[in-house]
Amino acid sequence: MSEVTNPLGLVGIEFTEYATPDADYMEKIFADFGFSKLKKFKDKDILYYNQHDIHFLLNKERGGFSAEFAKSHGPAICSMGWRVEDAQKAFEIAVERGAKPATDSTHKDLPYPAIYGIGDSLIYFIDVFGDKGSIFEQDFVDLEEQVVVEDKGFLRIDHLTNNVYKGTMETWANFYKDVFGFTEVRYFDIKGQKTALLSYALKSPCGTFSIPINEGKDDNNNQIDEYLDEYNGPGVQHLAFLTNDLVASLDKLDQTNIATLDIVDHYYDTIFDRVPWVKEDRDKIKEHQILVDSQSEDCYLLQIFTKNLFGPIFIEMIQRVDDGGFGEGNFQALFESIERDQERRGVI
Ligand SMILES: [Fe+2]
Repeated sequence: MSEVTNPLGLVGIEFTEYATPDADYMEKIFADFGFSKLKKFKDKDILYYNQHDIHFLLNKERGGFSAEFAKSHGPAICSMGWRVEDAQKAFEIAVERGAKPATDSTHKDLPYPAIYGIGDSLIYFIDVFGDKGSIFEQDFVDLEEQVVVEDKGFLRIDHLTNNVYKGTMETWANFYKDVFGFTEVRYFDIKGQKTALLSYALKSPCGTFSIPINEGKDDNNNQIDEYLDEYNGPGVQHLAFLTNDLVASLDKLDQTNIATLDIVDHYYDTIFDRVPWVKEDRDKIKEHQILVDSQSEDCYLLQIFTKNLFGPIFIEMIQRVDDGGFGEGNFQALFESIERDQERRGVI
């Protein structure tokens, strides 16, 4: 990894931290998705959940940064920890490259070096992982009553998508490019029946995750502006969990309350003509309302989206068979599905 292409030595995502006014609800969602409740941060009311290489923190502190965050945003992703080779060095270089350090009075006593990310959220730099140990061993203690649930095959975070105000997409894209060395992979202009959005996808310099950024178009309460109103600012719109067997993961989710978006029946009239090399059971794909996309022969991806799950935030589940896309072929179907949902709710 060269200095130029990966100036901070970024190597992936270590954790995602949630702030919420309703921790019981979040605990239920995490359990439904197959995350086990294992530990808590030393001396703090911050719970640690795990499934394979996905690490979640649920911040239940009643004061301080996350409590304030939940007050202004409702349920939200208030921070992420990103893996780097040297946390202090990454922090210093990030600040040199234009990031705002989280060293003001509202961010006293942070456990790791941090900068401001999207909205008021934080990005921590974490350099203890893999061969060097684990912050979850070092800084967390086992819960007396752990809640271990069956895992549902979710392996890691594939991507996270940001929603931003009109006219600021480029500013945010430049933040990820200039500070971390993200590169642009794709640009989309998507139109529904009544609304439209622009989307710009960025890939991390380590290649382990990507960040698409969405901005609404026009002033007719498109789904991005609806998010911004409800969330009270820019932030994470959805996280995507990677699985190697989406059908099996969804079979296991059937027993839960997690609801996914309805896809129009005629979607399945043509999808297997467009992507005939799908190996999974086609009846199962249709039954679960899984979306299919492909960029080239023998490569494809399967994906599905929950309805808004906590606040305006939802979860995507994705399986990749040599396909590095975002399901571009489905953007239209998906956009229209959300638009139908907006219409049902009387928003547009
Ligand atoms: Fe996505």
